[in-house]
Amino acid sequence: MARFIIEGGRALKGEIRAQGAKNSALPILTASLLCSGKVVIHNCPNLSDVRAVFKILRHLGASVEFSDSTAVIDTAGVNRYDIPDDLMREMRSSALFLGALAGRMGKAVMSFPGGCELGPRPIDLHTSALCRLGFSICEEYGELKLERSSMRAATIDLGFPSVGATENILLAAAISEGETIITGSAREPEIIDLAAFLNSAGADIKGAGESTILIKGVKRLYGTEYGVMSDRIETATYMSFAGLTGGEIFIKGADPSALSAVIPVVEAAGPRVYPVPGGIYINGRGTIYSVPPIRTMPYPGFPTDAQAPIMAMLSIARGTTIFIENIFESRYKHVDELNRMGADIRTEGRTAVVSGVPKLYGAKVVAKDLRGGAALVGAALCAEGRSEIKGICHIDRGYQSLDTTLKSLGADIIRK
Ligand code: EPZ
Repeated sequence: MARFIIEGGRALKGEIRAQGAKNSALPILTASLLCSGKVVIHNCPNLSDVRAVFKILRHLGASVEFSDSTAVIDTAGVNRYDIPDDLMREMRSSALFLGALAGRMGKAVMSFPGGCELGPRPIDLHTSALCRLGFSICEEYGELKLERSSMRAATIDLGFPSVGATENILLAAAISEGETIITGSAREPEIIDLAAFLNSAGADIKGAGESTILIKGVKRLYGTEYGVMSDRIETATYMSFAGLTGGEIFIKGADPSALSAVIPVVEAAGPRVYPVPGGIYINGRGTIYSVPPIRTMPYPGFPTDAQAPIMAMLSIARGTTIFIENIFESRYKHVDELNRMGADIRTEGRTAVVSGVPKLYGAKVVAKDLRGGAALVGAALCAEGRSEIKGICHIDRGYQSLDTTLKSLGADIIRK
């Protein structure tokens, strides 16, 4: 099993370019299924989750070329609506193919997108919304069968602002008749990016980024060319690395407006964050201080995906910080591993109490999920001595060649 070997204690210094946002690229690549004509996606990150979407698109009959961060997709040859179990299980957001296949083929057969390291990942909000749009969905023996029984617009009130459910409704309703309204929709920047992509292909979506979105169905979508937004969670992760190592990093292409809940927390902990034309400069030199309680919330609240990396940074703070993880049931799997490195973190249900320690120590640890793995990398960069991090396949799902990027900032890291 591949692993990272990191010698800690070196301050990161230098400039990197923000990668395209994983959580925007995945729905946009999936949405290309709706477009009849060539789709060109720029700033597409080279991640294992992205390659998993390519595999599904190719299985369905699309052609996909990918080089130098640009994906070119032609769906003229799409002639299937089934996705085999092994492809579905490769990543969580394969659930979005429900809406894309519903919109393109009017039917879909796929296995239930598995739960994952963050706890149960139900899709009840997705399926109930698709039923409101006139699809019938049968779930049996771990398999989902979707059929269009009638085409109808609907007003859908999402009980919880689920990102994936909001995206699936956009995908299923973009090509339809009438006007579908989503109330209580997710407001994440990635939703805005997806809607902008769909509109560039001829859709008529208004209000993305707000909690009410209007989708006026159109007859078809066309080929288009689009650039994915920069990855706000990757930027938050590098902010934590700067704080953990006392480093200075300029992130080219980073967008501070998508981090309005994270930057104040990072600055309250000590690092200085300077949004400048073309990116964000972070100076992490100096003491890290504890901050008031951090509650993860749907956007524009503090993002759950930044919880683990920021927790790693606060594990060496002067003082105690409390985290409340409101989005996922089981998103503290990095805590035991951080404690192996000398952190002092106690969890009780959705609450984590992080008592800052003066130093972390290199250790053998295992990444259990994507963002928890990034937290372990940050802790290892800061720790005294050598760390070995296993389970880096989780990290490769969301960070484009993390070891190469860190090496360019002066880190002593090798992939073995
Ligand atoms: C997206 O996941 C992101 N993934 C996640 O990022 C992110 O943490 C999450 O949104 C919240 O921002 C992608 O975009 C590919 P949700 P998603 O539907 O769509 C419950 C990362 O590290 N729920 O908003 O699955 C669900 O169980 C990943 O990059 C239902 O109960 O998130 C969870 O507790 C991790 N029923 C909560 O809502 C449903 O039908 C949030 O889920 C759907 C969701």
